[in-house]
Order: sequence, then structure tokens, then C-alpha cells
Amino acid sequence: MSFYVRMFSSNCTRRKKTTMSSNLIIFITGANTGLGFETVKSLCQSPKAYMILLGGRSIEKANAAAEQAQKEFPKSASIIKTVQVDIEDDDSISQAFGHVASQYGRIDILVNNAGKDFEYSSKPVTG
Ligand SMILES: NC(=O)c1ccc[n+]([C@@H]2O[C@H](COP(=O)([O-])OP(=O)(O)OC[C@H]3O[C@@H](n4cnc5c(N)ncnc54)[C@H](OP(=O)(O)O)[C@@H]3O)[C@@H](O)[C@H]2O)c1
Repeated sequence: MSFYVRMFSSNCTRRKKTTMSSNLIIFITGANTGLGFETVKSLCQSPKAYMILLGGRSIEKANAAAEQAQKEFPKSASIIKTVQVDIEDDDSISQAFGHVASQYGRIDILVNNAGKDFEYSSKPVTG
């Protein structure tokens, strides 16, 4: 939540940008595996061109996932860039914010997917 609030409460567009993109910029956290990675691959298959920011708490895993998606979809219209972000670490969130603000200037869509699939055990209610 804190990541979401910081990204959208600041006006990134006023900052200096080094990479301009006229395409939709989609940032997906926890995107190196699971549903996040499937989302990246799904976007890669679209005829529309996106700037996909593939977030991972391990930049090595994120880079490997980006490479895999690019190999799988070499003709994709989209571009994949990686961003290190651990959503449980305020410093990492601040650094990711600074990186995205300076490199891309904005985020159009945030898919805050990072997390864990908790299995809950349920007990029958009696009485
Ligand atoms: N799969 C389901 O049936 C289901 C159902 C309901 C909700 N969800 C939710 O959907 C999301 C994705 O589920 P999934 O099944 O794809 O899970 P997954 O395969 O376990 O993938 C989770 C991803 O989140 C990353 N991650 C975990 N903690 C992180 C953190 N603190 N900072 C940054 N990244 C972090 C993981 O990174 P590492 O590779 O570094 O561990 C991994 O890339 C989760 O939020 C989950 O709660 C899933």
C-alpha cells in the first residue's frame, strides 16, 4: 500500500526524465514468477506496445525473467525493463520510486502483485 501511495501521490511528471515513452508504462511488482510473470508474458503477446517494468526483490531473478520473456516473445512490440523493489523494505521502495521517476517519469498502471499465497486452514463451526 505504501508503495502505491508514494507512486501516485507524487507528481513524477515534473521531474527530469531520461527515458520518455509514449507507450503505456506498466509496473508489475513480484513479476519474476507466478501470476506476475504470467502477466508480463501476456502483455508481451499483445500487438500493443507497452513499456513493462518487471519488478523483483532480486534484480538477478528479475533480469533472468525478463530475458526468458524476451526469448519466448522475440517479436513482441513491448519493451521490458527491470526494477529492484522489495515491497516490505522502505529503502527499497524509495530507491525504486527514485529510479522510476528519473528514468520513466511516470507509471500509468501499477499491478501491485508481489506477495504470498497464504493457505488458511478452516475449522468447522460447531455449537
Ligand atoms: N495463486 C493464487 O491462487 C492466488 C490467490 C489469491 C491471491 N493471490 C495473490 O497473487 C499474488 C501472486 O501470487 P502467485 O501465486 O503468483 O505467488 P508466487 O508464485 O509465490 O509469486 C509471488 C511473487 O511475489 C514476489 N514477492 C514476495 N514477497 C515480495 C516482497 N516483499 N517484495 C517484492 N516481491 C515479493 C516473489 O518474489 P521471489 O521470487 O523473490 O520470492 C514472487 O515473484 C500474491 O500477492 C498472492 O497473494 C494468488
